[in-house]
Amino acid sequence: MLQSPRKYFCSASFLFLVLIINSPLLNAQQISEEQVTARANDLLKQMTLDEKIAQLSQLPGNKDPLFVKNAGFPEDVIQKLGAGSVLWVPEPKQIDRLQHLAVEQSRMHIPILFGLDVIHGYRTIFPAPLAMASSWNPKLVEQAQSVAAQEARSIGIAWTFAPMVDIARDARWGRMIEGAGEDPYLGAAIARAQVLGFQGGAQVAPDHVLACMKHYAGYGAADGGRDYDSSYIPEELMWNLYLPPFKAAVDAGVGSAMSAYMDLNDVPASGNKWLLTDVLRKTWNFKGFVVSDAFAIDSLIKHGYARDGSDAAYKAFTAGLNMDMASGTYLKYLGPLVQQGRISEQQIDDMARPILETKIRMGLFEHPYADLAASEKVLNDPEHLKLARTAAQQSMILLRNENNLLPLDKSKLQSIAVIGPLGDATIDLLSMWGSGTAPGPVVSIVDGIRSKVGSAVKVEFAHGPNISRSIPSPFEDISFLKMKEQPKQSPAEAKKAFDEAVAAAKRSDLAVMVLGEIDLMSAESASRSSLGLSNQQEQLLEAVVATGKPVVLVLINGRPLEINWASQHVPAILEAWYPGGQGGNAVADLLFGDANPSAHLTVSWPRGAGEEPLYYNHNLTQLPETDPKFKSRYLDALSTPLYPFGYGLSYTTFAFDNLNVSPASAAVSGTIDVTADVTNTGKREGTAVVQLYIHQRAGSASRPVRQLKGFERVTLAPGAKQTVHFTLGKEELQFYSPLLKEWVVEPEQFDVWVGGDSTATLHGEFALTK
Ligand code: BGC
Repeated sequence: MLQSPRKYFCSASFLFLVLIINSPLLNAQQISEEQVTARANDLLKQMTLDEKIAQLSQLPGNKDPLFVKNAGFPEDVIQKLGAGSVLWVPEPKQIDRLQHLAVEQSRMHIPILFGLDVIHGYRTIFPAPLAMASSWNPKLVEQAQSVAAQEARSIGIAWTFAPMVDIARDARWGRMIEGAGEDPYLGAAIARAQVLGFQGGAQVAPDHVLACMKHYAGYGAADGGRDYDSSYIPEELMWNLYLPPFKAAVDAGVGSAMSAYMDLNDVPASGNKWLLTDVLRKTWNFKGFVVSDAFAIDSLIKHGYARDGSDAAYKAFTAGLNMDMASGTYLKYLGPLVQQGRISEQQIDDMARPILETKIRMGLFEHPYADLAASEKVLNDPEHLKLARTAAQQSMILLRNENNLLPLDKSKLQSIAVIGPLGDATIDLLSMWGSGTAPGPVVSIVDGIRSKVGSAVKVEFAHGPNISRSIPSPFEDISFLKMKEQPKQSPAEAKKAFDEAVAAAKRSDLAVMVLGEIDLMSAESASRSSLGLSNQQEQLLEAVVATGKPVVLVLINGRPLEINWASQHVPAILEAWYPGGQGGNAVADLLFGDANPSAHLTVSWPRGAGEEPLYYNHNLTQLPETDPKFKSRYLDALSTPLYPFGYGLSYTTFAFDNLNVSPASAAVSGTIDVTADVTNTGKREGTAVVQLYIHQRAGSASRPVRQLKGFERVTLAPGAKQTVHFTLGKEELQFYSPLLKEWVVEPEQFDVWVGGDSTATLHGEFALTK
């Protein structure tokens, strides 16, 4: 699929490389780590200081003015010095052209590592990450990201800025959609799966891409859920909550990391030595390289952390940040810093080496170019679409289904009104990054329903009033992201659209309302202070329900929304998130019973924005919410979630019993086995997500009321039963103690619960002893 460079050059280094790479024994996949390092060192010996700094730089394909001001035009830099990486070039031909420039015209002929946000697909767009995580199916996540990787690599993108593994406890934060939710255990499992999927294993396979865990670290804790705002996270919460998914990614072999934008405890993450060196390299032994988030090195000045560009370059570099994304700060200032003796050339070598080693390991020197003719086969593989449909089916959560309104029986329906501003959406089903690659055709919800029911059922579509943000998104202007607002309407136009939608419901046997957020509303720079259904969607929903017709609400959105009224008055609610290119087909599969919902929430669903941050794994208080007199932390609303973490319905029902915890007491170094039976008590085949939670009753710190420590998807025929087995060992039982400043497993009493969500009642207990 990938082809070798056509031309050979006569510099000594290039001849040396040719000799090495043409040796059959020294194929990039087979060379030892020592040989990789030796090759990198040999290159470094021949490189000028400026060429090394170019390897520490990621050039913006869009010729960003800040970069041009600092370092000149990207193409000139490539030709003169080469480049570590180039980003924001999604077009295969451009990638190919720039790669030829680097390999053929730069003195060292070092190939570029092209990076792009291939977050959940390149051509085949899978559901957004929060949706994928809702499947609680790491294997599926791994398969999906493997497809994304193969499609991207086939056109020359060798590096994705994913997985995003930020824990998010606050639905006001617009980037919740990009991660796996609020839980560190599930987050770690999904992070691991994504790394293995993207890379094709712990090492990057020749037809896969380098993964990049981001945003390292603590971005999801932005104050007030306001994107980019400072995070203040005590060290114990870093270790116990925010860092575990990153650690899991490192253990899985992730080859790169991206530093976050925000201040972490007053030190910007992109200049934070504790994060970038002490934790990442010294504690975790990470051998890859770190890239900044976009312009984040220059932003150290804006944060009020660096005095000027030189100080920013110095602080980021000495904190442990290898590569400057897009700002050109390293290109401008690292050279003078070496000349001033503030940074040694040895330090430059040490920072450039992991980047060169990555390129060597990945075989980029041997195969810098993609075979664009062959890529068509990869990009149009029908199996990819099938997988995207399965992934979307497994990502959508059935939140409510009164009197079994769902699944629908098409033989009993003559007409359906599909209503709502997202009912015919296409790009808005893809989420921000899914719209930013080269997405293939997208099946809208109304089209998915039409093709499901055929001509026997009349399907009418009514859009209703448009939805848009009140403050525009800075990303709307970025053309390759393709995201657009729905045009602003006059009150009269909005009223007309509203009335037409209600009339369509009246004319039909059933209304499927498709409401939520356009993808500009749940993304980067898309935090919200309220979580309501905006732009009259709530009123439209109430008016359609008032017609007396049965209503199914399908939500397209990137975060839990305030749906208190709907949760009381709309009989069926399906949370579809941003479901990707096969979204419409998957919604239809679920609504009509060709697939059975099996997804579960990976975030606690609040009753309103005022409840945020909200998370199930909080500590107990002196007056728990179970106390009849102190049942809320508020005086005007309940402080419990509307739907708890782990929640999700199916068209069948499950019972959990026969919990067995053994031994009842074990040494802190031992393990505890937990088994429980799950039975399908309904009339259809279905998949349960069996979840195990623990609670440590006392210790050197207050421990969360519940913590997820195991889960398994189990598919059962009606009446069938299966015993599920979990093991609790050090990994599950330890925590970082703020008092002792170390990881501990404590000799204490523990509760354990097994069931279908975080309110599971099947209870057991065990003790750990010294
Ligand atoms: C985002 C990153 C992304 C990068 C490159 C930034 O604005 O925060 O998540 O990977 O841009 O596109």
